[in-house]
Amino acid sequence: MEIAILGYGTVGRSVRAIAETLPELHVRRILHRREVPELGDLVTLRPEDVFRDAAVDTVVECIGGTDVAREYVLAALRAGKHVVTPNKNLIAAHDEELRRCADEHGVTLRYTAAAGGGIPWLYNLRRQARADRITAVEGILNGTCNYILDAMHREGRSFDDVLRDAQKRGYAESDPSSDIDGLDTLHKCAISARLAFGVPAPEDALPVFGIRAVTDEDIRYFKERDLVCKLFMQAYLTEGGYAAYVCPVLLPSDHLAAHVPANNNLVSLTGRYSGLMSFYGQGAGGDPTGLSVIEDLLDTAYGARIDETLYREQELPLDLDRVKHRYYLREGKEAILTEPLAPGELVKMLRAKDPCDFFVAEIRE
Ligand code: HSE
Repeated sequence: MEIAILGYGTVGRSVRAIAETLPELHVRRILHRREVPELGDLVTLRPEDVFRDAAVDTVVECIGGTDVAREYVLAALRAGKHVVTPNKNLIAAHDEELRRCADEHGVTLRYTAAAGGGIPWLYNLRRQARADRITAVEGILNGTCNYILDAMHREGRSFDDVLRDAQKRGYAESDPSSDIDGLDTLHKCAISARLAFGVPAPEDALPVFGIRAVTDEDIRYFKERDLVCKLFMQAYLTEGGYAAYVCPVLLPSDHLAAHVPANNNLVSLTGRYSGLMSFYGQGAGGDPTGLSVIEDLLDTAYGARIDETLYREQELPLDLDRVKHRYYLREGKEAILTEPLAPGELVKMLRAKDPCDFFVAEIRE
């Protein structure tokens, strides 16, 4: 397989390093915005060196973002090249368009690393959805938020202190708002819901609450009640519809997800036949994510296709008004436990408020 890597950042570097250990994969070109002296002619600054090179059969997109990445992925697919990408922003925003383009040109688009990083979550979710009936997916899909909440719980450290630490360790996005406001998790929630249920799951219709406003006092309150706070994505089928949203949850301390340490992820599916199945591991980082990209490349090379024909679309409406939970809601110094509310009702209640002014968490009983 002759590969071109677009973008030579953390993941691009790991993809190249791992590919060099495998005789099946040959990195023919790297498109980057500047020269990389130690790589010499392997690196080009000109996109046409990739898209017009008939010998390149597969493109790995590691640029990130949605604009240039979308343009280049479309160019690669139209040029008849398979594409593998770990780019959650791109897939959350444009998966349908890109999938159709891949279909039209008889090539494949794979994005296992777009949610869960090094965990083969999306691959297995999609595989499972062929014959099982997935009724729910949920879990921790943002390492930065888990790192922050875990350190606040275990070490009693403040939010700002731990966030700085997460940034230094390279877990957080360049703008960590995307992590702490739940938007990174929302991308992964939407992608997971689409593969689980075959629904459109438009991101702008899905509720999202983050952890920006959580305080040491909130965490103390939870610990005194033997509860552990985690940022969760969840999506489930309701009678005649589906729900999908992102919100902190308060878990009993014996819940599996309550034990997830540091920047790890834990994500689960519930299937009619499989029951509950969970996937745990590194949701970010160059080598874990790079390896996930490599596995997609090997599947492409060996033709292990999970065809678009097996992506079963369902006409289900978004239904945020069915399942109710109580919520911990703190505004200023005042904390209350709400009556049971559906996510749609919670959104209506908090719509006019500034997310910096309140912290909300769903109580799992
Ligand atoms: N900022 C993300 C995280 C990176 O912390 O999980 C992986 O998507």
